Amino acid sequence: MNPNRKPLMAGNWKMYKTAREALAFIEALTPMLKPFHDDEMPDVLLCAPFTALPFMHQALPKAQTDFSLGAQNMEAHDEGAYTGEISARMLKEWDVEFVIIGHSERREYFNETDETVNAKIKAALANHLRPIVCVGESLAQREAGETDAWVEKQVKAAIAGLSPEQLEWLVFAYEPIWAIGTGKVCEADEANRVIGLIRKALNNAHVRILYGGSMKPDNVEGLMAQPEIDGGLVGGASLQPESFFQLIRAAMPVRV
Ligand code: PGA
Repeated sequence: MNPNRKPLMAGNWKMYKTAREALAFIEALTPMLKPFHDDEMPDVLLCAPFTALPFMHQALPKAQTDFSLGAQNMEAHDEGAYTGEISARMLKEWDVEFVIIGHSERREYFNETDETVNAKIKAALANHLRPIVCVGESLAQREAGETDAWVEKQVKAAIAGLSPEQLEWLVFAYEPIWAIGTGKVCEADEANRVIGLIRKALNNAHVRILYGGSMKPDNVEGLMAQPEIDGGLVGGASLQPESFFQLIRAAMPVRV
């Protein structure tokens, strides 16, 4: 953590949780966070399936808890004949603030490329959504010593054509593919090193950069102790309120 950047703990629920299950999660997590003051909390974000977002939007004011809502993907066009897709305009209707763009699962299973990632980032920004841009190398690339060049290439392609002011709206997530959902976390100092490279490529000290890939209650402290790591993008450990609470607790800028 760095005192100049507010930590962000983001759950990426992937294709888990119906709307009902999402509401039960909010109901369970809310009382755990009640004892903490706003100024000691990190930003907390739930990136939920599309179908749960309107219900969560309605439930949040009643819960009086300051979560932000995020989507996990969007289409680059504002509207049109794109069967099955969801646009930034539709997300804004439910006060969605963030959208994950270019997650490795989208790149691998749904043919997303550096070009589509760049187009989606631009569409999100045009609609005042904050993109969480995911980058990261495969195991083969890591073993071949290609991590740094690959990640830098992904970052540069993602931000092509953006102004320095637009950059300030972005969040990045370094997610080594071999660490996602495998239980194999990247060593904290290595994650810190790669995130430092990403920050250098961005040439902007304000942009928050998260770590993602098997972040869990038993490794979060070491990761959050690193100066370049501003929070987490968390899959598995964000699905249970108890474990997500422990991650939020570890990202609190001021300890009580
Ligand atoms: P994981 O997923 O925490 O389950 O490894 C992280 C992600 O894919 O964002």
